[in-house]
Amino acid sequence: MAITYEPNTRTFFLDGAGVSYAFHINDAGYAEHLYWGASIPHDDLRYTCCRQQACWHITPPGRDGEPSYQSYAPELAFFGTGDYREPAVLPENAAGDRLCELLYAGHEILPLKPAMAGMPSMDGGETLVLHLRDGITCFGADLYYTVYDDCAVIARRAVYRNGADAPVTLRRAYSFSLSVPGRDYEVLSLYGDWAAERRIQRTPLPRGVVAVDSKRGMSSHTMNPFLALVSPETTESIGEAMGVSLVYSSSFVLKAEGTTSGETLVTGGIQDMDFSWELAPGEVFETPEVVLAYSNTGLGGMSRAFHRAFREHLINKRQVKARRPIVINSWEATYFSFDLPKLKAFVDAVVGTGIDTFVLDDGWFGKRDDDTSGLGDWVVNTNKLEGGLIPLINHVHSKGLKFGLWFEPEMVNEDSDLFRSHPDYAIGVPGRSRCYGRHQYVLDLTRQEVRDHIVEAVNHILHTHPIDYVKWDFNRTVTEFWSCGREPRRQAEFAHRFALGLYDLCRRIVEGNPQVVFEGCSGGGGRFDPAMLAYFAQIWTSDDVDAEERTRIQYGTSLVYPLSAMSCHVSACPYGRSISFETRGHIAALGATGYELDPTHLSTKELEQVSNLTVAYREVQELILDGDLYRLADPFTGNRFSFFVVSPDKERALLTVYRRLVDPLHQVERLCLAGLAPDKIYTIPELGIQATGATLMRVGLIPVFPTEDFRSVQYTVVAIDATK
Ligand code: DGJ
Repeated sequence: MAITYEPNTRTFFLDGAGVSYAFHINDAGYAEHLYWGASIPHDDLRYTCCRQQACWHITPPGRDGEPSYQSYAPELAFFGTGDYREPAVLPENAAGDRLCELLYAGHEILPLKPAMAGMPSMDGGETLVLHLRDGITCFGADLYYTVYDDCAVIARRAVYRNGADAPVTLRRAYSFSLSVPGRDYEVLSLYGDWAAERRIQRTPLPRGVVAVDSKRGMSSHTMNPFLALVSPETTESIGEAMGVSLVYSSSFVLKAEGTTSGETLVTGGIQDMDFSWELAPGEVFETPEVVLAYSNTGLGGMSRAFHRAFREHLINKRQVKARRPIVINSWEATYFSFDLPKLKAFVDAVVGTGIDTFVLDDGWFGKRDDDTSGLGDWVVNTNKLEGGLIPLINHVHSKGLKFGLWFEPEMVNEDSDLFRSHPDYAIGVPGRSRCYGRHQYVLDLTRQEVRDHIVEAVNHILHTHPIDYVKWDFNRTVTEFWSCGREPRRQAEFAHRFALGLYDLCRRIVEGNPQVVFEGCSGGGGRFDPAMLAYFAQIWTSDDVDAEERTRIQYGTSLVYPLSAMSCHVSACPYGRSISFETRGHIAALGATGYELDPTHLSTKELEQVSNLTVAYREVQELILDGDLYRLADPFTGNRFSFFVVSPDKERALLTVYRRLVDPLHQVERLCLAGLAPDKIYTIPELGIQATGATLMRVGLIPVFPTEDFRSVQYTVVAIDATK
């Protein structure tokens, strides 16, 4: 059984694939954390609860002499009654106090996980709902825990309930508290910027609070909604890693607190800087889900747990394991400057190369000759495309390719018909100028009529044209955080309501057009988060398409997200580095691959290389879609980058190794593989090697690079019986 309640010790055990999580209800009625880690039997774990009653400790209200709430490891920390660690919730009651003592009030074990009302979440698994309640105000928190028999993650979230007969205002409503014994950890997070997404940062946990956050109304390029605690000695393949990934796309915060009493508290969810939420009597507030991945096989184990969980239980079901299109995208080749003959020549140039989808990027609609105008007007620009989109689509289809189109549904330019007729649709505070970002404003997704307008405009194009693929972009951060559709005291609900509005749009447009493959995008990878993946099985990883930079961007992204989620294209060399076409193809093949260049400028040899690369990609695509990733060399710390992807049955694998700079000493560097079956015999045809998995993993192999900088090799590893 995945979830067990031991009545004698009042302990809950949650047992997933290789992972256990336990807490108990103590004598005070407090849900006290006991354990999260590798699978354990159901022993009485209460001996681990060590009460250190310092003379400065505050006892619970009215219970002098009892242990302080601060001395318990919380499942959900609350404030104002003696616990000074980061609380998960701050309800402001009718009297203006922010007190709640959330104690046990019952539980349920559900065989079917209830879906969340307005937000994406993991499906499947077995779910425990723990009811906590404040005895005075009847304010409640329902804690949801879901455990899976096919992946080492626990999904958690909290639902807050106003049980009083007067309104309550939530000043903070995080999704969880998690207590981890000890304080000797490092905090790992993914920071970055436009064109430099998801770099890895690892810093010692201090005493005090470390926060990873976004206040941008989007999950952001600058900080991904992810944080991990790792032991100082943890490497890619050894040691503990405890990852927290928030299924959310708006402003967020995740915190790790090294407490003075020696344990570490992790908490977070919706960003509470500039947040409040009014709950009428009887109303509930759902918080976004958080996915906790545990590994004692290093960062690699943590990543594989996230990848499996997201692929099996979160990412767009229809598309997650479907073969992806190999696209040629117009953006880097044409920007806003194109017409029908130019695009037809573009399409003609790739016929027969294996590229199967042409994507027309920005610039096809409204008055859109640069980025200062036209956004919001989803009407074909017939000055550029005489006769509309149909002649182009017919041409694309006649050549055997599919047709894709770019939208940026959530935005508007001041110079647009939409803004001229509905200026109030753009977020902004009356009497104040609005901030520009890429010369554009953000539409107020918190308003139903704005969302209805967007759905109608986008659907009109999708329903009147045979469109197979859509790239959905989002090119600036949110500012002003105010809506004319809401009363003044409820304006700090904006950032979260924006997320709910976004999910409503995605449901109606993405799920409403199941014939279309949707790709997410946000000025590169600015909204690369688990919630977006529930709709978009692939997301444009970065506007930086230089293969050298991409090794780091894709490496960092893979800490949390599977290869199949990363959209990766071959482009020209943007920084003047001379990187071979083959290498660019190898790096772009480590995801949903495609091309982002002008094919009419490619030589015959390069077009042949495109054909070779697409054939090779189709042969290994199942590995990209469903393989287990082993990162063998880290481009942040060394001269090489290597991803090794192994099929779940360990019959096939793909090795990609990239060497940045030639080593004039010509040192021979071996590379040990990982994740193979030790007893199986494998061949590596490109190297003429036949050896057991054990040998390949312990002795390794020697990649043979051409003597040039920025070169890669790609080898297939096949079990002998699989070759028959
Ligand atoms: C940003 C995206 O990341 C690019 O790929 C491209 O679609 C541009 N927007 C178009 O404006």
